[in-house]
Amino acid sequence: MNLVQTKDVSGISEYVRAMERLLRVIQDLSASRDLNTVMDIVRHSARDLTGSDGATFVLRDGDLCYYAEEDAISPLWKGHRFPMKICISGWVMMHKEPTIIEDIYTDDRIPVDVYRKTFVRSLAMVPIRTKDPIGAIGCYWSYKHRATEEEVKVLHVLADTASIAMENIQYQNIIEQKAAQMEETLKGTLQAIAKMVEQKDLYTSGHQQRVGLIGYAIAKEMGWDEERCETVLRAGTIHDIGKIGIPGELLSKPAKLMPYEYAQIKTHSEAGYQILKDIPLLLPVAKIILQHHERIDGSGYPDGLKNEEILPEAQVLAIADVFESMTSHRPYRPALGNDAALEELEKNKGRLYNPEMVDVLIRLVQENRLEFLK
Ligand SMILES: [Fe+2]
Repeated sequence: MNLVQTKDVSGISEYVRAMERLLRVIQDLSASRDLNTVMDIVRHSARDLTGSDGATFVLRDGDLCYYAEEDAISPLWKGHRFPMKICISGWVMMHKEPTIIEDIYTDDRIPVDVYRKTFVRSLAMVPIRTKDPIGAIGCYWSYKHRATEEEVKVLHVLADTASIAMENIQYQNIIEQKAAQMEETLKGTLQAIAKMVEQKDLYTSGHQQRVGLIGYAIAKEMGWDEERCETVLRAGTIHDIGKIGIPGELLSKPAKLMPYEYAQIKTHSEAGYQILKDIPLLLPVAKIILQHHERIDGSGYPDGLKNEEILPEAQVLAIADVFESMTSHRPYRPALGNDAALEELEKNKGRLYNPEMVDVLIRLVQENRLEFLK
């Protein structure tokens, strides 16, 4: 190595170079996102920075020492577990202190018969997290060598940094798990809301889900990022939630609606917004739902918004909603079919509907890419 303070020709001491290498290792460890990467960095750098012939990374597994990773002349005990009481890494963890062994054959803590098959003659080992060790890091030499103070310090720095990195990974995993649970809960809640609406209006059973999927497909094809596409999917899945407050007879009336009845139906987008707007996670969805009957020429409701005043997500949903409604059975008419629905959208693109989004849907249908509609 190593950490000896000698000057080379360029005037930069090897010590400084070693410190730079150590700093890089600390940065790499801090950026690690999984345990294997941490172990990989530690065992390579422990060997590299101390100039030892081998390095080991041991994890505590209950009352056992688990030799998780090794970097040595030949693998020693990688993948094996030993009782804490019989191995030196166990001693280090139980005593919460480092150990330096210049000659393993003169140290009665070492089961020499086991070591005789290996190249190891001397070693240094430090616990990972001194207060409550979760593992140990060690270096092996093939000759009699008393590890220097600097070499042990390097091991300490690696152990401390590895411990922080491992804790970070643990927190990261917990956060990811919680986020996944929340995502599942949200999905389940949205499905439950969708079913509630569809219980009231049996003719629209499955309509919302299909609108969500069509909207998602259009958004994806538009090149939007996954989160934005997911928001469109969520909004579609419950876009008619406001119909919960409208009498069932009106929703499934098998005849043309009277103007006052139609006016009542039209309240559902505002009602949906009011139901959802106070749930922070669903506020973006609430805003899309509020606007899903707006039309780009200003002829829609509830606010008669025009063009870019309407959220692009709501413009996508409007197209998906019209397409799905026209291709499904309704109490007052049979399904009109894909061609008629696309013709209607084509006829009104640029007037009622965003032309680019209509073209995207036409392409998706013509290329048979809406699998779920089959
Ligand atoms: Fe609607």
